[in-house]
Amino acid sequence: MALGVDAIRSAADLEGLDPFLPEFRTDPYPLYRKLRELDPIHRTPAGAWLLTRHADATAVLRDPRFSSNPSHLGGERPQVGPRRVDTKVLLFLDPPDHTRLRSLVSKAFTPSVVRRLRPRIEELVAELLDRAERKGSMELIADLAYPLPVAVICELLGVPAGDRAIFGSWSSDASRLLDRDIDLDEAALERGAAAIAGFTEYFGGLIQQRRDEPTDDLLSGLIAAEEHGERLSWEELFATIILLYLAGHETTVNLIGNGALALLRHPDQLERLRRDPALGPGAVEELLRYESPVHVTARIATTDLEVGGVPIGAGEQVIVLVAAANRDPAVFADPEGLDIGRPDNRHLSFSAGMHYCLGAALARLEGEVAFGALLRRFPRLALADPEPRLREHFVLRGLRSLDIRVV
Ligand code: HEM
Repeated sequence: MALGVDAIRSAADLEGLDPFLPEFRTDPYPLYRKLRELDPIHRTPAGAWLLTRHADATAVLRDPRFSSNPSHLGGERPQVGPRRVDTKVLLFLDPPDHTRLRSLVSKAFTPSVVRRLRPRIEELVAELLDRAERKGSMELIADLAYPLPVAVICELLGVPAGDRAIFGSWSSDASRLLDRDIDLDEAALERGAAAIAGFTEYFGGLIQQRRDEPTDDLLSGLIAAEEHGERLSWEELFATIILLYLAGHETTVNLIGNGALALLRHPDQLERLRRDPALGPGAVEELLRYESPVHVTARIATTDLEVGGVPIGAGEQVIVLVAAANRDPAVFADPEGLDIGRPDNRHLSFSAGMHYCLGAALARLEGEVAFGALLRRFPRLALADPEPRLREHFVLRGLRSLDIRVV
């Protein structure tokens, strides 16, 4: 029987409690607070370690003795994230492969490539908001939060607009694979595998086209990227393009959706941002902290070691609750409050260490432009549905829909 969060008084009460249960989904933060206070390095019933303190989370993410590659997993331990992964996916690679691949990808996906996108992002946001204004109402996810990052990543990679309809639900199905072993049934696993197969076939064709006739898009840049005489192999190209495509929007949609909901639920902060648009970049950081689009990530110890004084064995899995670390009072004053002017915001929403998000600058830019334009355009923004529902995804935390009034 699950114990109500209010009834939890000691570490013993936490025993056997599964934070991945649906009853904690809507508002997991009281449970995270209890875990952090009573048992910050908590062993789950399934045998993984659950971290809720900022210091422990940062230490693990920065420690090269921890790997994100599931092949290090000992025995038949349960885990968060995919079990059989294509080892060419940057996110799941260890050095030296990770170092080499990341450096090649960074050659094509540079800060100046991202900076140049600003006018186009502004244009895309304006078009989407024009449409909403004509309608007089807005379902923020379908009308802005989703189409914006999809359009941006497609244009960046060089996916022709006419081809995007082919993808259908592939992105959602593929990103659900991150929840493997939390609550994925066979049908969802099959949909995920079919989505990856679909992407692989589609991008195979596009890579071939760009090899024959390079353009100025990121895909052509990745094909041409070279360092010390090395290039991305065919398999690495595939894995990287699918990762960039998925990571490029399945996360940013949640920044815009979760962020807009947080602002609408904190009208004082919304008005503060409206009055002082220069707070935009700081507001994005705070919205990332307050409701992390990537709720959790995981690592596996590759050797026996200690975290926060607790021994962790080689092959054991450590689940880093990014969303909990982002509300650690040891690092953030009034951590449960939203403060768009928060100084020194050291949130972990883009991770830390060698897997630190490669698209952070792009995500920040999209968020800043989207929130800025939304507030400028609609002086009377308000929630039309006070209790919007979450998507079924756990690792990627976001809303199914968000109905708002714009006039
Ligand atoms: C608000 C939006 C985003 C959030 C919250 C986010 C978050 C993250 C996090 C937490 C990781 C590391 C996971 C770990 O350490 O296990 C990551 C990695 C990554 N992200 Fe993002 N991301 C966002 C947007 C983007 C965008 C727009 C792109 C690209 C267009 C992108 C590309 C990547 C890539 C390629 C990696 C793998 C880096 C590596 O393994 O070295 N992300 N992201």
